[in-house]
Amino acid sequence: MAKRYLTSNQGTPVTDDQNSLTVGERGPILLEDIVLLEKITHFNRERIPERVLHAKGAGAFGFFVPYQSMASLTKAKFLQDPEKKTPVFVRFSIAGSSLGGADTVRDIRGFAVKFYTEEGNYDLIGNHLPVFPIRDPMRFTDLIHALKPNPVNNIRGGPTEASRFWDFMSLRPESMNFLTYLFSDNGIIKSYRTIQGYGVNTYSWVNLCGEEVYVKYHWEPCAGVEYIDSKTAAQLAGTDPDVASRDLFDTIAAGHTVEFEMRVQIMNVEAECEQTFDPLDPTKIWPENLFPLMPVGRMVLNKNPENFFVEVEQSAFSPAAIVPGIAFSNDRILQGRTFPYGDTQRYRIGVNYLQLPTNMPRSPVDNMMQDGDMQTMYNQGIVNYLPNTLAGGMPMEAPQQGKPAENFASGNIARHELTGDDYYQARSRYRTMSAAERKRLVSNIVENLSQAYEPIQRRAVEQFLRVDNEFGSRIAQGINLII
Ligand code: HEM
Repeated sequence: MAKRYLTSNQGTPVTDDQNSLTVGERGPILLEDIVLLEKITHFNRERIPERVLHAKGAGAFGFFVPYQSMASLTKAKFLQDPEKKTPVFVRFSIAGSSLGGADTVRDIRGFAVKFYTEEGNYDLIGNHLPVFPIRDPMRFTDLIHALKPNPVNNIRGGPTEASRFWDFMSLRPESMNFLTYLFSDNGIIKSYRTIQGYGVNTYSWVNLCGEEVYVKYHWEPCAGVEYIDSKTAAQLAGTDPDVASRDLFDTIAAGHTVEFEMRVQIMNVEAECEQTFDPLDPTKIWPENLFPLMPVGRMVLNKNPENFFVEVEQSAFSPAAIVPGIAFSNDRILQGRTFPYGDTQRYRIGVNYLQLPTNMPRSPVDNMMQDGDMQTMYNQGIVNYLPNTLAGGMPMEAPQQGKPAENFASGNIARHELTGDDYYQARSRYRTMSAAERKRLVSNIVENLSQAYEPIQRRAVEQFLRVDNEFGSRIAQGINLII
């Protein structure tokens, strides 16, 4: 093995890294011990703030390859050629847990994919449950506050936690569909290899003719879907709290791959108003019998990170990272997500976050944005403005590929409330479950809701009764509530 010699961060040789500089053997340490000071000050800055949500996670690299060209629907270059592999980085996470939380708690799992396309980064940031609890971003911070531990003592579990959770949810009936997923078998997992993924929000695809369709993304695990019961989850939380992260890492380290199939549901934009549900409302699914799943391609994860902090903790996904051929629909939650991710990352990681290894596009970056902490590289030459002639007009604006989609918006400016049938899809889901699945769903809700304060239990039961009378009555019975 080649010899390596220790240096300071200035590159100067360090000849003693074990003993502080003191006046005599028993005397005080000198302030001029630059070796000690550098070591300590660096250590003091090792932590960055954890993500405000989805703090705990695990990641892996790989590639994505489409089965066939999707040109009729989107001009996105990474979806054109079945011969072309696009590198990806994926981070799986747990929505409510802080760093150090157990992988097996009942919660939403994040499923964030970064495609390093030839046209820049495309981030598809989804969850393992197909629906979201709210439909307006104004309610997001309150939702997360209610999901996280209470602000007085930061302690999880018990009556206060259950009451805070059900207090919020029972006042937001649009969460009912989400709750029937969260408390069903789907709510607990032990392996990221066997979870489904959903884009949840409705995106647009635009082809070269400027034709636009709505799209919902799905990821299907090639290893099959697997969930675990709450008893096993509780036991694993004690004995192997990092079970899902470990499983992902060990599988890839053993030379195996972790694979998912991308599928999409497509809806014509004109069909938006013809549905019995709001297709731009992420508290709703699109029924698969009406909008069948179309296989798009395969994602293969085959490389572990070499450094967790640099590659996973500092990874930064944003719904604002889209490429030509992919656009935002008027899904309010999606639009509400386009600003906050980059904003929190400038705070959480640092303003140069896009120049860090995992986040840096693999395609060239060329513009006149210069200086400050956000730019650690420099453009050569005297021309740092556009338009210019001194640099031959470079960099030129990229050519428009095909026709852009045409969108029109008009209306009165107000804080409009979006309303809809909050119970219908939860009702259909409950009624299509097997008797055993219903039993487990009721029992999981009862286990949690029974800890909440009585008036809140009552309000939650009222909501479940509206979903389905039998469903609500069984919950009421389970928590000994007379209705
Ligand atoms: C208005 C609604 C939402 C807002 C404001 C919001 C905001 C955020 C923020 C600030 C983060 C932390 C990012 C970071 O520190 O790097 C985050 C992470 C995340 N969010 Fe959202 N979010 C919203 C809705 C959603 C929805 C609907 C989904 C799923 C479709 C989702 C999935 C995720 C995932 C998976 C992560 C973790 C990403 C990673 O692995 O780094 N979020 N969100």
